Amino acid sequence: MRVVLGVGGGIAAYKAASLLRLFTESGHDVTVIPTDAATRFVGTATWEALSGHPVSNSVWDDVDKVNHVRLGHEADLIVVAPATADVLARAAAGLANDLLTGTLLMARGPVVMAPAMHTEMWQHAATRANVETLRSRGVTVLDPASGRLTGADSGPGRLPEPAEIFTAAIAAGQSAGDARGSLQGRRVTISAGGTREALDPVRFLGNRSSGKQGMALAEAALAQGAHVTLVLAHAEVAPPAGCEVVRVESALQLREAVLGALPTTDVLIMAAAVADFRPAEVTATKIKKTEDGTDPVITLVRNPDVLREAVLAREADALPLVIAGFAAETGDAAADPLTHARAKLGRKGCDFLVLNVVGPDRVFGKDSNEVTILDADGGSEPVRGSKRVVADAVVAHAARRLAR
Ligand code: CTP
Repeated sequence: MRVVLGVGGGIAAYKAASLLRLFTESGHDVTVIPTDAATRFVGTATWEALSGHPVSNSVWDDVDKVNHVRLGHEADLIVVAPATADVLARAAAGLANDLLTGTLLMARGPVVMAPAMHTEMWQHAATRANVETLRSRGVTVLDPASGRLTGADSGPGRLPEPAEIFTAAIAAGQSAGDARGSLQGRRVTISAGGTREALDPVRFLGNRSSGKQGMALAEAALAQGAHVTLVLAHAEVAPPAGCEVVRVESALQLREAVLGALPTTDVLIMAAAVADFRPAEVTATKIKKTEDGTDPVITLVRNPDVLREAVLAREADALPLVIAGFAAETGDAAADPLTHARAKLGRKGCDFLVLNVVGPDRVFGKDSNEVTILDADGGSEPVRGSKRVVADAVVAHAARRLAR
C-alpha cells in the first residue's frame, strides 16, 4: 500500500519512527509528512532515512509536483500518529494550512488517527467535539492509551503502542482496498487487438481480431482499481478511458512494448492476436504487377513468441508477476481444442490460458464469448457470457493468482 504517515508535534513523535518501521518492513511504501512542530521533536533526516523518501512539511517545496494534492490522492491509507489536539482541531475544521492538513483534505482512502496529548486536552469539550466530527466523517480516531504522560502526570492521552496503531491501520487499509477492488494499486498490462505485418508501404498481413476482448479486459481491470497499460495493436473499438495506451502495429513493436513494461507489471494478459509470421522482406516501394506476368512470392519468417519471452524474462529476472495467455483453437484430427490448449499452456509456461474455441462463425468480432480458463495447477473454469463477463472472470482469476 502507499501510506502517508502524518506526524503531529508531540513528544510521542519519536514512537512514530517505530510505526514507520512496521510499515516499511512489511513492504509498504511510506511518505512521512511531519508538521512543523513535529520536526522540533524528530528531525526530517530521521524520517527520510527510515522511509527512503524525501520529507517536507511545506506546500511550498517541490511546487511543480503539487504535493498537497498528489500525496492525498495517491495514498491508499493515511495514518496520523501522534494526532495532537491541534492536528485533530485543524483536520476537523477542514483547514489546509500545511502539507499534512492539505493532504488530509485530499484523502480518498481511509484515514486513521492515533491521538496523543495531555488528559485535560483529550477530555476538553473542543477536542471531544473534534473527535466526534472526524469520526462522523469516517475517520478512524483511535482511543488513546492510559498511562504515564510527558511529565509526572498520567491518565488517558498516551499514544497507543505502534503495533496497535499498525494493526488498526492495516485493517482499515485492507477493508477499503477490498471495497475498491482486488487490484487496487496493482499494475496490469494487457496486449490487445491484432498485429499488422507490413509487406510494402501500403499493404500488410493482418488478422481478424477486433480487440473487443482486450478492451473488456482493460475495463474489468480498471473496475478492480488497477492501473492499466494497454499495448494496443489494430482494433475496431476505442480503448476505455482511464488506461494508458501504447499503440503498436507489428509483432516486433508489441514485443518491445510488452517486455519493456514487465518490470513494472503485476499482471500481464496477452489477449492480442500476434502474427506468428511476418514477411521476410518489407519493400521500400509498392510491389507492382509485372509486365511478364510473374507473380510475387512472399517469404514469411517467424515472429518471436512474446508470451513465451515474457515467461522467460520473469524466470530470468525473478519478476513476481502473473502471466496469462489466450489460445484460439479449432481442434483437428489429432486432438480436440482442450487437449491442444493444455499442451499450449505447458509450452508457453504461463500461469493460465484462456481457451477460445474458434471456427468460421465464432468469436472474432462477436460481442459474446464462451471460454475455458485453464490453470497451470490443473484447474479449469468454464465461463460463458459477454466479453465483459469473460473479462471479469479472467481478471478475478489473475487477482486470485496474484494473492497466492
Ligand atoms: N502470442 C505471442 N506471440 C506470438 C504469438 C502468440 O505472444 N508471436 C500469444 C498470444 O497473445 C496468445 C498466445 O500467445 O496469448 C497464444 O497464441 P497462439 O498463436 O494461439 O499460439 P501458438 O503457440 O502460436 O500456437 P499455434 O499457432 O500452434 O496454435
